[in-house]
Amino acid sequence: MTTTETPGMLRRILDYSSRADPYPLYAELRKTPVARQEDDTYVISTYREITDVLHNPHLSSDTRNLSHPTAGAEEQTTPAFINLDPPEHDRLRRMAMRHFGPPHTPGLVTGMEPALTDTVSGLLDDCAGKERIDIVDDFAYPFPVAVICHLLGVPREDEPRFRIWVNDLINSIDYDPKTDPKEKLDKGVQARKDLRQYLGGLLEQRHGGQGGDLLSRLANDDGPDGRMTDEEIISTANLLLIAGHETTVNLITNGMLTLLRHPQVLRRLRDEPDLVVPLVEELLRYEPPVHIIPWRAAYSDITVADTVIPKGSRIMLMLASGSRDPNRFHDPDRFDPDRRDNQHLGFGSGIHLCFGGPLARRETEIALTELVRRLDRPGLVADPPPYRRSPVLRGPIHLYVEQG
Ligand code: HEM
Repeated sequence: MTTTETPGMLRRILDYSSRADPYPLYAELRKTPVARQEDDTYVISTYREITDVLHNPHLSSDTRNLSHPTAGAEEQTTPAFINLDPPEHDRLRRMAMRHFGPPHTPGLVTGMEPALTDTVSGLLDDCAGKERIDIVDDFAYPFPVAVICHLLGVPREDEPRFRIWVNDLINSIDYDPKTDPKEKLDKGVQARKDLRQYLGGLLEQRHGGQGGDLLSRLANDDGPDGRMTDEEIISTANLLLIAGHETTVNLITNGMLTLLRHPQVLRRLRDEPDLVVPLVEELLRYEPPVHIIPWRAAYSDITVADTVIPKGSRIMLMLASGSRDPNRFHDPDRFDPDRRDNQHLGFGSGIHLCFGGPLARRETEIALTELVRRLDRPGLVADPPPYRRSPVLRGPIHLYVEQG
């Protein structure tokens, strides 16, 4: 039997008390690969079923196709392509992708290597000599914002304002069943407006220019799919910000936490810097930043593992559970940077597969290599550290480390 109502299990996973270690609960959940909830949400937790669903063309990423649309769905003017289906999704994704790297163009990511290294060095210079640092506030949080500002072409002097908006925006979408979302949502809506207005102004200046930044490229690009409208460019820029920020913060922070819990791997990384590539891949499987895709909508009735999911139902995909599925990965609860067969779900799968994967990987590789090289005998102050509330984007809110 694949479908049961599992009252309690999902609730326990979403409850904050499970945040530090949800993995034993995922193992329980996997006993029912497709689990119908009291509210008719279907929760899918096994690798094969998650992958099947992510490749199923009858599934929609557009909230407007849910029988009960989620909060905030109606407030978006032009949905970003993460919330669209083909053919619109594919057109916008292709238009943005052109600028992200070979084989299409020389690529923004390759060209960003010096900026990434400089930003990391600058942040670590500021930490030098401190007995105690917070890997989140002092390092992992500011890093991706600086990178996205650089990518989009946001001038340095505007970064502080930009960071405040990003903060409010990210907080407003943090899934937290406990707190009343009204105040957070209001702040988020205001931040979204301010950010759109700011990006609109910047875009106006970029029209007709020759800059190499992403806004300039999108504003002036006449690729095979034509040119994005200003509205589409702004939605895309917003999407990159939201999708590329806290995810990267969490991967760097989860990475440092995992290394401090596995000191032999940390020492190895110091001696063998090339280890960082498979190590980051294993982190995406073992301690991924995105634990859950909170919804997909069924366009029509679909069958998953013998269970019929009716049209309009909400489907929740437990990515982090799938990446620990023992039917797919050998010894899945072991952190093993030498693992060869590692097609994890850390970046999702199918047509919405993370678009920023190459950038996120490179940011995290540089961040972890430099943290390990420059911190002097780092040790954890608290284990487990305090976690952010969200069960969707999961990671520590602070990670204090003492040196020396
Ligand atoms: C999509 C994870 C970093 C841009 C996704 C999805 C996941 C994910 C799981 C699939 C969502 C779905 O299927 O609904 C991550 C993780 C990251 C990361 C774990 C960091 C470690 C980034 C960065 C950027 C980015 C740095 C951009 C600068 C996107 C975009 C999509 C996406 C645009 C939507 C793709 C589409 O709809 O076709 N990401 N992401 N991500 N990500 Fe990332």
